[in-house]
Amino acid sequence: MSKKPLFILAPMDDVTDTVFRQIVESCAPADLYITEFVNVDGLQSVGRPKLLKKLQFTANEGPLIAQLWGLKPENFEKTTKEITDGSLARELGLPKGVNFVGVDLNMGCPAKSEVANGTCSALIKNRPLATEIIKATQKGAGKLPVSVKTRLGWSEIDLTWVEFLLGHKLDALTLHLRTRKEMSKVPAHWEVVPEIVKLRNKISPKTKLIGNGDVLSRAQGSELIAQYSLDGVMIGRGIFNDPFIFANKSPWPGYTREQRIALLKKHVQLFAKTWANGERRFDTLKKFAKVYISDFDGASELRAKVMDTTTPDELLAVIG
Ligand SMILES: Cc1cc2nc3c(=O)[nH]c(=O)nc-3n(C[C@H](O)[C@H](O)[C@H](O)COP(=O)(O)O)c2cc1C
Repeated sequence: MSKKPLFILAPMDDVTDTVFRQIVESCAPADLYITEFVNVDGLQSVGRPKLLKKLQFTANEGPLIAQLWGLKPENFEKTTKEITDGSLARELGLPKGVNFVGVDLNMGCPAKSEVANGTCSALIKNRPLATEIIKATQKGAGKLPVSVKTRLGWSEIDLTWVEFLLGHKLDALTLHLRTRKEMSKVPAHWEVVPEIVKLRNKISPKTKLIGNGDVLSRAQGSELIAQYSLDGVMIGRGIFNDPFIFANKSPWPGYTREQRIALLKKHVQLFAKTWANGERRFDTLKKFAKVYISDFDGASELRAKVMDTTTPDELLAVIG
C-alpha cells in the first residue's frame, strides 16, 4: 500500500460487483476496491460456484481486495491460501499475474442473519473467535496484506475492541464509525478518531487507519484525512450521489440528461454481457436507476418506468 492517502470504494453487497467497479473505474478511479462480502464456509462447500460470482473481476479494474466472512477459521485459511497463491484468480478465469491485492475480514455487517450465526459484527462480542479467524487468515495470506473492516463496538463505543484489533498487527483497519446497534441510523462518530489514531500510533504504527461513514465528496474525504492524520477514507453510499466521486473535480453536477442516460446504458449493457446467464438478479440493477436518472426534467417518470422492467433489454428499450 502506498503512502499517499487512499480513497477507497466501500464494499456494498449487491452493488459493488465487477460491473459497477468497472463503471466507477471508467468515470474516476478509486485507489482501491473491495469485493462484496463472500462467505468462506460457503466457498469451501458445494455452494462454491455460486459464491465465486461475487469474487468475479476483470483486469480492467483497479486494485481489488477480497472481503471474506464466515465462522470457521480453517475455511478462512484455506480461502486466503487460494487467493495468495493465485489459484482462485485462475479459477475465475483471470490470466497469470492478475490477482487480488489483499484480504479483508468483515467484522462489521450488522444484519440479523449474519449476527445470529455468530459471524460479522457478532465477532465484536467473541474475541477468541475473532483472534482465531485473524490468525488463520494471516497464516493463509503469507505476505499478502490482511485488513479488518469493523464498527466501533456492539451496543456502545468500545475502544478496547479497536485496541484488541490493533494488537493483531493488521496491515489496515477500516472503521465504520458507528456501533452495531446504531446500524446506519445516526451520524458517524468522527469525533472519536483522534483517540483511535493515538491508539494506533502506540500499539501498531504500521497499521493503516481508514475512516468510513458519511463521506459525500472527495474534498470532504481529503479534509477528514488531513484533520485526523488518517491513511485514507472509504466511501460507500456517496457513490450513489455522484459516480465521479473519486475525481478531483467531478463533472457530474453538469451532466446532461443524455450523458446520464448514456452512462446508465453502458452500465446495463455491461451487466447484460457479464451476467449473461442470469448469475445476478436483474433487480440489483434497478438500484442504480436513482443514481443516473436524477436531476433532469421527467426523471421521476422515467424512473418509474424503469422500475417496471424485468430484463436488461426491457430496461434499454425504456431509456431509448
Ligand atoms: C447496500 C449496502 C451493502 C453493504 N454491504 C457491505 C459489505 O458487503 N461489506 C461491508 O464491509 N460493508 C458493507 N456495507 C457497509 C459499507 O461498506 C459502509 O461501511 C457503510 O455504508 C458506511 O459508509 P457510507 O456512509 O460511506 O455509506 C454495505 C452498505 C450498504 C448501504
